Amino acid sequence: MVEVNFSPEVDIKRTVEIIRNLRNDPMGGWIDLPRAVNMEELNRIKASAEEIAEKSEVMVCIGIGGSYLGHRAIIEALGNKSDVEIVYAGNCLSERELNKALRQVGDRDFTVNVISKSGTTLEPARAFAVFKQKLIEKYGADEAAQRIYATTDAKTGTLHDEAVSAGYTRFVVPDDIGGRYSVLSAVGLLPLCVAGVDVDTLLAGAAEMAAAFSDENLAVNAGVMNENPVVKYAWMRYLLGQKGYDTEVFASFEPSTTYFNEWLKQLFGESEGKNKQGVWPASVVYSTDLHSLGQFMQDGRRNLWETIIDFPTDEMNEKVVKAVKVAHAAGGIPVLNVKVSSFDEKGFGELIYFFEMACAMSAKLFGVNPFDQPGVEAYKAQLKKLL
Ligand code: PA5
Repeated sequence: MVEVNFSPEVDIKRTVEIIRNLRNDPMGGWIDLPRAVNMEELNRIKASAEEIAEKSEVMVCIGIGGSYLGHRAIIEALGNKSDVEIVYAGNCLSERELNKALRQVGDRDFTVNVISKSGTTLEPARAFAVFKQKLIEKYGADEAAQRIYATTDAKTGTLHDEAVSAGYTRFVVPDDIGGRYSVLSAVGLLPLCVAGVDVDTLLAGAAEMAAAFSDENLAVNAGVMNENPVVKYAWMRYLLGQKGYDTEVFASFEPSTTYFNEWLKQLFGESEGKNKQGVWPASVVYSTDLHSLGQFMQDGRRNLWETIIDFPTDEMNEKVVKAVKVAHAAGGIPVLNVKVSSFDEKGFGELIYFFEMACAMSAKLFGVNPFDQPGVEAYKAQLKKLL
């Protein structure tokens, strides 16, 4: 279980109301996802991952935002344990990056997992067109189609329509799960399985955290929800926000969690930053960043707090964690500690659910909808006009 070292004043009635509200939200499908795994779908995902490993040296994983960051975060942290190299594409519009990805694949046998809920996002659509062409040139149209795995909407979208007509293997991004809450659905599970990540344990870790938010638990334990670490963290964020702290710095001491920080920034930034509300999510990786941003953390403008993601680590790194906590608290910034049980699938499963639920809950406390992203849509619309 994830543990925290603070106990803010929690309005239990409001908390329970928010949890019930989230459970009834049409975009609340992620809440019970790890506790009610669709085994048929999971087995299909595992079978596809085996098939991909049999026929490819490389899998090109195409997607952006919520269709990309979650699985990359876990794979970068735990390492790719399989022989299939994963090359990421479609997460920007830089031609240099696209060419780099093409060079990385080179002449090797490859498959493509294209992930886009809407099926219309420009960045992945562009990369997909390029890699599809490469597949067709290398294998011919029929085999190319067998080397494409599309994760997209169940019924609509350009990618959906193409996948149906060309006969790609298809996985569904459920209607009731938004991009940034989708890592434990087929969006993340297929690339994770390809990378040899133990998804059963990952889901079990998430399920352990999710149990507290089930209807059954609320029926008997609503009165002690203030003891739950997720609830404590959500309220702590909200109360610090109310006090005028406008920036949260996620601090990790493991460089391989840099992408986990990116996932966190997307989760909180897109969920909370609307109606002129929210806390700006930033990140550092120590001890590296102690020699750059550490100065600001210690002694700069006091508008921020630090959330340490405290993974079990080696003795030396442990000492740095302790030193930072003491020094930064003395420097006058609130230091929140989120202690993770283990640096493995179980720990990351717990952590993913911890942050997803805390984010949705604190967005509700701030009075915004955690599940839309009107700002992102505004940029997409402007770009479409220019193109
Ligand atoms: O969280 C979100 O909804 C967004 O970050 C999306 O995941 C991102 O914009 C990609 O969208 P799509 O999966 O439709 O290509």
